[in-house]
Amino acid sequence: MIIAVDGSAASGKGTLAKRLAAHFNLAHLDTGSLYRCLALHLLKSGYLPEKIEEPLAAAAIRDIDLSMAGTPAIRTDEVAGMASVVAAMPMVRQNFVAFQRQFAGNRPGHAGAILDGRDIGSVILPDADFKFFIDADLEERAGRRTRELQDAGQSVMFRDVLEDMSDRDRRDRERNTAPLKAADGALIIDTTRLDADSVFAAAVNHIEHQRKQ
Ligand code: DC
Repeated sequence: MIIAVDGSAASGKGTLAKRLAAHFNLAHLDTGSLYRCLALHLLKSGYLPEKIEEPLAAAAIRDIDLSMAGTPAIRTDEVAGMASVVAAMPMVRQNFVAFQRQFAGNRPGHAGAILDGRDIGSVILPDADFKFFIDADLEERAGRRTRELQDAGQSVMFRDVLEDMSDRDRRDRERNTAPLKAADGALIIDTTRLDADSVFAAAVNHIEHQRKQ
């Protein structure tokens, strides 16, 4: 079983993907962490988001350290800002395609794979068995992200997080290559007034229902 989960920042797509992975024994890839690992590498190398050139960013993919993917170092706002800049570059996106497809295609010991990101159902895995698009109001998402960062010990203010998130949303939705939008056939879930349990239940329901047809 191959599942594609796309959606906006802090919409709950990562939480949903992790829970579906555990429930259906699927290998899980948070594809945003690829762009974040690249962003971290570029920031550490001294590049600034407003100065970074596309060929250089694309070439730097061969030097990134994917073991950083599970670490708090890639979860800062600075990294998120750089990630949204490099994620708008077609050459960067192209260089990540094969890795994501290979991850989905070869999962020994698992019943399949689930990838979450922005373009999984539309570009990376258009033939996925199930597709979800997760979204929520900007203010609600900014509130969630503020609490998440504060719980992780970072001193951030709601207004700043909201502004950054709004800028990043715009970059993700308006870029020419693989803009954030619901893929054809995706079940759209608005999580503004739903908790994680309700979102998970809705997704499992959808999968079970479709499987019976
Ligand atoms: O989901 P996230 O916040 O970790 O994603 C970081 C950035 O990477 C964000 O700007 C969206 C971008 N991204 C993307 O363009 N395509 C993906 N498949 C995953 C993330």
